[in-house]
Amino acid sequence: MKIISSIEELRDQLRGQLRTAFVPTMGNLHEGHLSLMRLARTHGDPVVASIFVNRLQFGPNEDFDKYPRTFQADIDKLEKEGVYVLFAPTEKDLYPEPQEYRVQPPDDLGNILEGEFRPGFFTGVTTVVLKLFSCVQPRVAVFGKKDYQQLMIVRNMARQFALPTEIIAAETWRADDGLALSSRNGYLSTDERAEAPALYKVLNQVADEVRGGHLDVLQLERKAMDALAQRGWQPDYISIRKRMDLQAPSAEDLAQGEKLVVVAAAKLGKTRLIDNLEI
Ligand code: PAJ
Repeated sequence: MKIISSIEELRDQLRGQLRTAFVPTMGNLHEGHLSLMRLARTHGDPVVASIFVNRLQFGPNEDFDKYPRTFQADIDKLEKEGVYVLFAPTEKDLYPEPQEYRVQPPDDLGNILEGEFRPGFFTGVTTVVLKLFSCVQPRVAVFGKKDYQQLMIVRNMARQFALPTEIIAAETWRADDGLALSSRNGYLSTDERAEAPALYKVLNQVADEVRGGHLDVLQLERKAMDALAQRGWQPDYISIRKRMDLQAPSAEDLAQGEKLVVVAAAKLGKTRLIDNLEI
């Protein structure tokens, strides 16, 4: 595997490649990330991964400084997956001057749910993703459903800018007890780690109720938030949304069997976890 930090060298290395499959990450790689590498392999060749902890997408009081950085272990894992190039720019490489031009997602998608609780987050994500795409020039790029809203925003960006990159969705990889793998799970204490699967359990309860015909969406959401709060969580939101655009379903949508997803974010101690489940 070639490890490249400069944009120019990356371009030289990938020149003429027409089928590149790309997986952008912020490192601290786990099985979820590696499942994306494997899916990428089925959609293109070579597979290119990136590791870059993108300051633009962190709020001033968020965990940019303490975000886990495990570069050597990450390299070993990517080698085993047969990744051809790891693009790992420094901040100077990727942002040699202040990044003043940014991609602004539409308010009705970028400022709801995660965007409401993390102002500027999605602008930071789309800006770095567009820039990484411009460096790697991939034919396809793989994103996890774990970050459901991010996947949708990136996909819409690619469509609206007519980018030559097809966005592929990967299923959420979970631990045996249901907890979605996440780099931030490492922040959890032993007790918190034992409690953490409750988030996915609550999502399943909500999904089961909807499937069983319980269509008072607001009541289900409130009940789910209360259940988590009772167990000591601080939920930001648990929300039943249309898969198509992440807007709240109308009574008519519900009656017509519109496809839904339940999305959630909640803090357990100091750790903020997100998850979702397609209903
Ligand atoms: P990061 O959190 O490192 O995630 C990189 C990719 O892995 C994302 O597409 C994410 O959805 C996916 N992923 C994370 N956990 C997963 C799991 N348990 N199952 C399946 N896929 C999972 O998301 C980012 O980085 C950044 O915002 C990035 C897109 C790299 C831009 O900076």
